[in-house]
Amino acid sequence: MEKDILEVLLTEQQIQHRVRELGEILSAEYAGKDPVIVGVLKGVVVFYADMIRQIHVPCQMDFMWLSSYSGTNTTGQMQVKRDVSADIEGRHVLILEDIYDTGTSLDFTYKHLLAKKPASLKICTLLDKPERRKPGITLQPDYVGFTIPNAFVVGYGLDFNEHYRNLPYVGILKPEAYNG
Ligand code: IMP
Ligand code: MG
Repeated sequence: MEKDILEVLLTEQQIQHRVRELGEILSAEYAGKDPVIVGVLKGVVVFYADMIRQIHVPCQMDFMWLSSYSGTNTTGQMQVKRDVSADIEGRHVLILEDIYDTGTSLDFTYKHLLAKKPASLKICTLLDKPERRKPGITLQPDYVGFTIPNAFVVGYGLDFNEHYRNLPYVGILKPEAYNG
């Protein structure tokens, strides 16, 4: 697993430090609002588990599961495999995502949840790859952990063909690992 990593982009310590910083900001933002924190599966699971424990205000956990992505390229076809279970109408909703890449999935998620008429809807993404944004996608994440260069990364929940999610850091995958 480690042998397929070209370079560690974000160490475990850097990530934990940033998660604590974001936690302070989000705790202040959502004090007294009892937010519903929606994680987009599966890539967000590791970030979600760390992030939620740094948000020191009452909140509710929920998840969505989309399908569309395989390998290193988005097919563009989005589908809700599993919707949120909470009734979010009139609630303060925070979307947690692993990475904002082309923007297709977050844009889809945002519109899907906005249609349910939440009181507010914000986005927190661990990683942002602005260079990859698809033309026409103007949505800006409200909170970003790290802005990263245009490279395919794995670890801390992010996968390549369902592998590498359990690496404790974010690393750049060697091209030969996905070229076979
Ligand atoms: P989108 O292109 O912004 O729609 O990104 C959709 C999904 O692609 C993300 O939620 C990730 O699961 C996956 N993804 C995008 N870039 C990477 C990457 O560099 N490594 C691993 N997964 C990625
Ligand atoms: Mg993925």
